[in-house]
Amino acid sequence: MPDAIQAQMQALTERLHHLNYQYYQRDTSEVSDQEFDRLLAELGALEAAHPALAQPNSPTQRVGGTVTKQFATAPHRFPMLSLGNTYSEDDLREFDERVQKGLEGAPYRYVCELKFDGVAMSLAYQNGELHQGVTRGDGTRGDVVTANVRTIRTLPLHLRPAPGQPADFEVRGEIFLPLPVFAELNAEREQNGEALLANPRNAASGTLKLQDSAQVAARKLRFFAYSLLTPGRHFATHSEALGALASYGLPVSDTWRVCASLAEVLDFIHHWEKQRFTLPVATDGIVIKVDDLRQQDQLGLTAKSPRWAIAYKYPAEAARTQLREVQYNVGRTGAVTPVALLAPVALAGTIVKRATLHNANQIAALDLRLGDTVLVEKGGEIIPKITGVVLEARPADAVPIVYPTACPACGTPLVRPEGEAHFRCPNERGCPPQLKARLEHYVSRKALNIDGLGAETVGRLFDLGMVNTPADIYDLPARRAELVTLERLGEKSIDNLIAGIEASKQVPFPRVLFGLGIRYVGETVAQKLAQHYRDIDALAAATAEEMAAVPEVGGVIAVAAAAWLQEPQNRELLERLRQAGVQLALTGEAPVLASDRLAGLTFVLSGVFAEHSRDELQHIIVSNGGKITGSISKKLSYLVAGENMGPAKREKATGFKVPIISEADLMALLPAPGETAADTDAPEPPATGAQGELFG
Ligand code: IVH
Repeated sequence: MPDAIQAQMQALTERLHHLNYQYYQRDTSEVSDQEFDRLLAELGALEAAHPALAQPNSPTQRVGGTVTKQFATAPHRFPMLSLGNTYSEDDLREFDERVQKGLEGAPYRYVCELKFDGVAMSLAYQNGELHQGVTRGDGTRGDVVTANVRTIRTLPLHLRPAPGQPADFEVRGEIFLPLPVFAELNAEREQNGEALLANPRNAASGTLKLQDSAQVAARKLRFFAYSLLTPGRHFATHSEALGALASYGLPVSDTWRVCASLAEVLDFIHHWEKQRFTLPVATDGIVIKVDDLRQQDQLGLTAKSPRWAIAYKYPAEAARTQLREVQYNVGRTGAVTPVALLAPVALAGTIVKRATLHNANQIAALDLRLGDTVLVEKGGEIIPKITGVVLEARPADAVPIVYPTACPACGTPLVRPEGEAHFRCPNERGCPPQLKARLEHYVSRKALNIDGLGAETVGRLFDLGMVNTPADIYDLPARRAELVTLERLGEKSIDNLIAGIEASKQVPFPRVLFGLGIRYVGETVAQKLAQHYRDIDALAAATAEEMAAVPEVGGVIAVAAAAWLQEPQNRELLERLRQAGVQLALTGEAPVLASDRLAGLTFVLSGVFAEHSRDELQHIIVSNGGKITGSISKKLSYLVAGENMGPAKREKATGFKVPIISEADLMALLPAPGETAADTDAPEPPATGAQGELFG
């Protein structure tokens, strides 16, 4: 009864679109989160059972899952122009005079909007459905990032019908990473010893170009619409179009205002100069647009920007203050970072006392001296930086900064590996801040998450010489008598600490691997390595080359991980952790016996799978001799299709006559349980010319 099923899917889709709109545009929720998830799962299951009925804009697309190796490009129907920029109010007066002249004395009004600092996006809607998302590119052609854009929760995939809604239009707006999300992302990267993202704009643009839309979904991008374009004229004014966008369910920031004069525009600018720091989105100025669309046409365009609009940019917030001291911090990986300690100064809504100095090169480039008066800026960057020295204010006794040649913590001569900007302390095993930071990392929430043993306590125990490496933590329960003598550590805290240590022995292997603090091995890489090798012995036996073949594990990571695992002291650490009962293997049955059944075959996985995670399937394929690739070509052996596989993949595979199989079909290729790897033979590669779907 496909009709009945189609109707059921349609009803679920509409209900979910409605609930999404209520939740993200109206801030209300008619059902519990569980009920929402249940409806979503129900639709997902129906789509899996009836892939032909699955819609590209289904609410199930929010979670991502589509992997794009290389983004296609598409032309812009209306060119994506840029705006004339200015930092001066005098320029705005001149702009206003040009507008006045161009309109020959007719009355006019402006719309002022905030200028959001993200990535410009062009969205095509057709018959109420999100059809395509394209980046600005060179203004005439951009990258098609539709699958990634679909994961933005506040963006309607399906519009609310409204009277007069054009059947075919484009929405222009800004994709951005909310500031709290950006801060969280950087905190995580710092913990993992990864390079920090300079500003939310770079973070948003990097996120938008991720190949795996499931990762994009996890990053929580947002969108604000700021213009609506149609082939014909549907609205008289820009303000009307903004109102229409909001009424269709598109997110429009409600900060825009109609201004009847330049004086009102300047008021708007002054109001937001400080107020903008209270918003959860980075802004760098104001955009001023002539409201009447016919007047916009009358004013026309210059070569690359409209004459009817201009951007006023706020000056980067800067302050003058005194450089008191330079501190050199040694991180978990031994990297030395200079930090400027400043006389406290108010800047962009906060009091600044410290600024990053990045590295030795920057100190030299600024010719910085202690006692100097410096300029501190907080532009798009969230972490303040020193941008210059006020030489006229340099005291006669200003002390030149001599970059240390030895580790400020342990005295070991610093090294600067070729191609790296940072000096590093190579004394991994003896340098106190490195050891301490590694312990803090080991007990942290995303690693072993040891309740009752926070960063502060573990730091104290380290300072007291009671704990030096993660393995020492597991000796603490037997040293209760010593613990009770410590100040500020009562019986109850000790009970907690011991219970937390005990519980950490149940933390799964991937998080333990992450907790070891191997350079470059963040959460995702730890997960991939653990899933691939399943236990620490298999991992330790692998060469860097082998590890580099695991998806998401690049060459640099693999070399670092292999070197770490070879070190005798690390082997000893692992042995002690094993004896303590820490999980150094994935528990549960390995998904499938290894065999060479899939030798010589290549697979593409697409969509979401019901029985196994994508990682498990990758593991199954690889451990049975098969290879995973990202793109469909005529050489591909099989396309394994899960739920929500896009129609384009299906079409491409069919075009190349690549067989499309299900998860169950894949499992059927493998040795049956009980059959040993030795008595299996690789199957014949699929006959070329095989049509459509194998196995029914
Ligand atoms: S209007 C032809 N409005 O600023 C005018 N742009 O060069 C098209 N931007 O990267 C742009 N907020 O993405 C407009 N409220 C706003 C904006 C805005 C941010 C960005 C835009 C583009 C740049 C303009």
